[in-house]
Amino acid sequence: MAFKKIGIFGLGTMGHGIAIVTAMSGYEVLAIEATEEFLDAGLSRINTYFDRQLKKDRISEEDHKAFLERISGTIAIEDFKDCDLVIEAVFESIELKCELWDKIGKVCKPETIFASNTSSLSVTEMASKSGRPGQFVGLHFFNPVPMMKLVEVIHALQTLDDAYEQVFEFAESLGKKPVRANDTPGFIVNRLLVPYLIDAARVYEQGLASKEDIDNAMKFGAGHPMGPLALTDLIGLDVAVWVGEILYQETGEARMSPPPILRRMVRAGYLGKKTGKGFYEYT
Ligand SMILES: NC(=O)c1ccc[n+]([C@@H]2O[C@H](COP(=O)([O-])OP(=O)(O)OC[C@H]3O[C@@H](n4cnc5c(N)ncnc54)[C@H](O)[C@@H]3O)[C@@H](O)[C@H]2O)c1
Repeated sequence: MAFKKIGIFGLGTMGHGIAIVTAMSGYEVLAIEATEEFLDAGLSRINTYFDRQLKKDRISEEDHKAFLERISGTIAIEDFKDCDLVIEAVFESIELKCELWDKIGKVCKPETIFASNTSSLSVTEMASKSGRPGQFVGLHFFNPVPMMKLVEVIHALQTLDDAYEQVFEFAESLGKKPVRANDTPGFIVNRLLVPYLIDAARVYEQGLASKEDIDNAMKFGAGHPMGPLALTDLIGLDVAVWVGEILYQETGEARMSPPPILRRMVRAGYLGKKTGKGFYEYT
């Protein structure tokens, strides 16, 4: 293993999952959160995950102990100084991310490589704020991290090949299936998936078919495990609107722009499964 110690910035939905798979693959993990309270919440989510795995006999007592011992937490950025790789998974805000990269760039040793888990922001822009643009990559995990095999490894305009390959190998060492992509809006998955979801909402809005028929058509005709409207409910209508807007802004392609029905549903709080109501109702 080229890397030994991995810093993880943010222990939310994605960060805590990244910490889990990283520790399970033998790396030492140092996680950082904004406050002690958030740090405790993130670490307790990780504990709960490993406890469940133990209860279900998916991991042994020794592994349970070893995985947890490999993870520690802090709220001081300076503690990242000797990490070999820092992965950032804080809120999707370019201002916040750039401000943090500027700080991290000043405390880490010169060899440390930086990676952002952003889904939609410019990796090239973050690289330029990090003080070490050649050592910056995008590392886009999917939710839930322990289950989803795919990781998009994003080459920013400035990324040097050696740093890129080290991060690509790191993703493979986690047992993931990494794919190579350039820093373009939405990378591969969202660039293809989000316009499809948006178009399905548009088709529904135009009254071409019922929601059930739109979903069944793609399930039984195209072999998809789930129809596009049910999938939008799962991902969150707010997320679909927000990523669609970014894709539209960056590409200028009208098909990326979320239709009024999606925006209205978001305004009404119909965000999908997480709020109990989207295109469908959930109890
Ligand atoms: N949720 C998804 O399905 C998903 C999938 C792929 C990628 N992403 C990307 O991953 C990143 C994180 O998303 P998430 O869903 O895990 O968000 P989240 O809101 O669940 O977690 C973000 C975490 O960052 C922490 N944080 C905020 N400011 C911080 C600071 N200054 N210092 C340290 N920690 C700070 C927050 O306390 C929070 O725990 C985003 O860039 C998002 O686009 C999300």
